[in-house]
Parts: sequence; C-alpha cells; structure tokens
Amino acid sequence: MAEDSILGFLQNNEAISDSLQFAASAGIDHNELENVIKSLRGFEIVDAQEFQKDRWFLKEEGKTYAREGSPEVQLFNAVPPDGISREELQKKVNPTVFKIGSSWAVKKKLVEIGRQGVSRKVEYVEDKIQGFLQQIEKGEVVDEKDLAELKNRKLIEFRPLKGYSLRKGPKYVSKRKKAATDLTREHLLRGDWRDLEFKEYNLSAQVQPIQIGYLQPLLKVRDAIQSIFLQMGFEEMPTNNYVESSFWNFDALFQPQQHPARDSHDTFFLKVPSSTRELPEDYVAKVTRVHESGDYGSLGYRYKWKREEADKNLLRTHTTAVSARMLYRLAQQKSFSPKRYYSIDRVFRNEAVDRTHLAEFHQIEGLICDRGLTLGDLFGVLEDFFARLGMAKLRFKPAYNPYTEPSMEIFSYHEGLKKWVEVGNSGMFRPEMLLPMGLPEDVSVIAWGLSLERPTMILYGIDNIRDLFGPKVDFNVIKNNPICRLGLE
Ligand code: PHE
Repeated sequence: MAEDSILGFLQNNEAISDSLQFAASAGIDHNELENVIKSLRGFEIVDAQEFQKDRWFLKEEGKTYAREGSPEVQLFNAVPPDGISREELQKKVNPTVFKIGSSWAVKKKLVEIGRQGVSRKVEYVEDKIQGFLQQIEKGEVVDEKDLAELKNRKLIEFRPLKGYSLRKGPKYVSKRKKAATDLTREHLLRGDWRDLEFKEYNLSAQVQPIQIGYLQPLLKVRDAIQSIFLQMGFEEMPTNNYVESSFWNFDALFQPQQHPARDSHDTFFLKVPSSTRELPEDYVAKVTRVHESGDYGSLGYRYKWKREEADKNLLRTHTTAVSARMLYRLAQQKSFSPKRYYSIDRVFRNEAVDRTHLAEFHQIEGLICDRGLTLGDLFGVLEDFFARLGMAKLRFKPAYNPYTEPSMEIFSYHEGLKKWVEVGNSGMFRPEMLLPMGLPEDVSVIAWGLSLERPTMILYGIDNIRDLFGPKVDFNVIKNNPICRLGLE
C-alpha cells in the first residue's frame, strides 16, 4: 500500500519533495514508508535523498494532555455550573490534574477558588492546548506564537527528524513485480515461467548454522593425540572393558594385595558380578609364586596370596590393566616381535570430587616392547612424544610404582603458569611383571601414562574440570570452541 502510493504518485509527478509530508497526507506511518523507500532505493526503482529537519515533538506529559485534555480544562469541566466544594472536586479528578489544573485554571481565570468552594468564572472553555498538541502530534505546523505556552510548560521538544525526497530511479516501474524465488511444477504447467522474473542467488548471504553434532574438547584432543601416536608407529590397544578383574588390574602388575590402592576407599568394586569367572591358570600360578616367594631372581613380597582377592571385579583404575593383557597375549606368540602400543580411554577412581578431580577420567598410555630397551630409550620417546604435544621442556623425577623400576614422574615447563607442572608418570615394567607372562628375558618394556583431561584443560584454558566433563558443561562452549591444533604446528 505504501509502495503503491509512492510509485503511483511518481508516475504522474516529477518528485516527492518531502516524505514526511507525503506520509502525513496519505495517512501512512512514516516508519513504514521509510522501509519501503529503502527497499525501492536498493533496487534503483527510486532515487532517494535523505534530509534532516528539526521538528517539534510531544514529551510524555504533552502526549497525556493530547489524549485526555489539558489539566486546567479537565478541572474546569469537573466544576458544575453552580460550584462545588474543594473536597468534592478533589474526589472527582485525579491528584495531578487537581494540583496542576487548579493552579493554571486560576491563573487563566477559568475558575475561582474561595472559602465557599470552587466556582466557574466563564461558561465555556475551548481546550486550545489539547488542540495544538494534537496538531503537533500529527506533524502539522503550528503558529510560532501558539507554541510559546507549550514550550514554557515543557510539553514539547525540538528534535531532528529524517525525511527523504524522491524521484524516479533508473529502473522505475509503476508496479514492482515480485521476483520468483523458485521454479515450480505449476510455473511449468501454466507456462508463466516465461514472464517471471527470478530472484538472483545471493551467494554471499549468511546461512543458518547447521544442526549437527559437535566434538567435545576431550574428543578433539584425543583425536590429536591419537594421530601423534599413529605418526610414531603405535597401534591401539582394545580398551573396551570398563569392568576388569583385580587380577589384571593389580596382581598381574605385581601390586601386592595389601596395597592401599586396592582398598574400597580408592577403587570401585562391583557387587554384581562380584568376581571374575576365568583367568589363565598357568599364568595365575606364576603370578602367585612371584608375589608369595619370588622367582626370576626376585624375593617376592612374602605374604599369603589369596585367589578371592584376585577374582574381585572392579572398575579399572588404570588402562595399564589392558597393557598387561596385551603383553601377556604377545608373550603367548610363537616368536617374539617388538610392539608399540597405545590407548586412550576411561578409568575410575574413588576420589573426592573437586575442581581438578572427578571419580572418572581418561588415561593416555603408551608402551614400547622390544629387546634391549634402556632408560635412555624411555627419555628419548618421552621427549619426542611430549614435544609433539607442544611441551618441549621436560624434567624427570624419581618415583615409585609397584610395576615399574625405575619409575619417573614427568614434569613440563608451563609457559603460561611460569612453573613446572606434572604431566605424567612413566617407567620400565619390572621383570616380576614381564617374566611370569613368558616374555623373553632380554625383552624390556618402557611405558608412560597421563590423563587426557590435564592437557585439554591447559590447551582450552579451562580451570574447573566440571566445565569440561559432566552435566554442568555449557553446550554453547562445546559448539563454539576451536579445533585442537596439537601436532599441527
Ligand atoms: N598406571 C599409571 C597411572 O595410573 C601410569 C603409568 C603407565 C605409569 C605406565 C608407568 C607406566 O598413573
């Protein structure tokens, strides 16, 4: 409707000199007209020049009076021809009208307020104030002298207003055809596609974000670390069992049965099924012996090893249980071949949950099994692996694990924190672990483990683990976080 009136007017006239006046006389809202003008200008159907002119506008109080009448006239109208008491009058009008209205009505000599009450001094008043205000509201011009009182009473203010002057543009048409966006079956059947104008594709338009799955930061870092292992020639171990027997989780790793980690305060034991059904018996016998009395040159722990303890099912506390299974499997082969194995998967510990600990986390583990490996090989592979993770400066600290000797904690210099932070644990698996499996005596295994959470928190600047994993994770953070650039540098 606004568009038709602009295009129709321009067909018979040279120009629309003032869109504000045009809108007022056509009874169209100027905002609506402005939108149409911008669209027509965009398609070069009209030429539009912007201009600003200052105009009077109603302030809030002015708007009320334009609607309800000036307070003095409202007050006057509330006074009956034969007068009224102040109290009665006060009840008839609202408090602001009474207050402001009575002072103006007295000043303008419309009423008289005496001891007897309030009485009219004239028979009739015309509400000029309301009239002027309504004229201004419609954008009509009001005489300068009539504005004086409105200005004084601060009912109006002077503000700039944007308008347009229009003339035909290079692509002027008296009626705009709506461009078709699709070629439909109906268009083809009717044959009207011949006359249609089709909208051009806007190839630079922003598209809707697509609703797809997003990778959790842990998964992104896992992918990156996985490719580092693959580049270094490692094979993945099958870690698809959260439930493990104590035997593979602890005993096979030469961890004595009284070890505090085997307490329910540290480990989640299963109620159902509470124990494992089968273990390789020959191997169990060798493990029993090495724990109880030692073997292969070891003295053992010298205690009574209990089968029930080894049978207990638990949620694995480390993926080293899987490494033990893999090494045992390797030892059963006819001839030994060297291996590089890795895994990245979930482990469980009965820990107090705080900003850096959960009762479950992901462990990254790597091991190399070959003849004649030394501690020097372990240093070398750790330097290589961690440098690919972006941790070029490493330090090692002697440590203890029941299954490794020597054992070393790994520290990396954190440039952001300006200090050394622990990033992993490592060592050479003990003969008490490897020889009962049946691996040749000259075969050594170097191994290391770290959490996936620690490097992810460092890489993504997350300082509370609950923002990374679990029900409190903000889905928008998952959607918007960047790719992991590990191993790309
Ligand atoms: N199992 C160790 C841990 O849970 C990690 C580790 C793996 C240490 C291999 C040494 C060798 O922390």
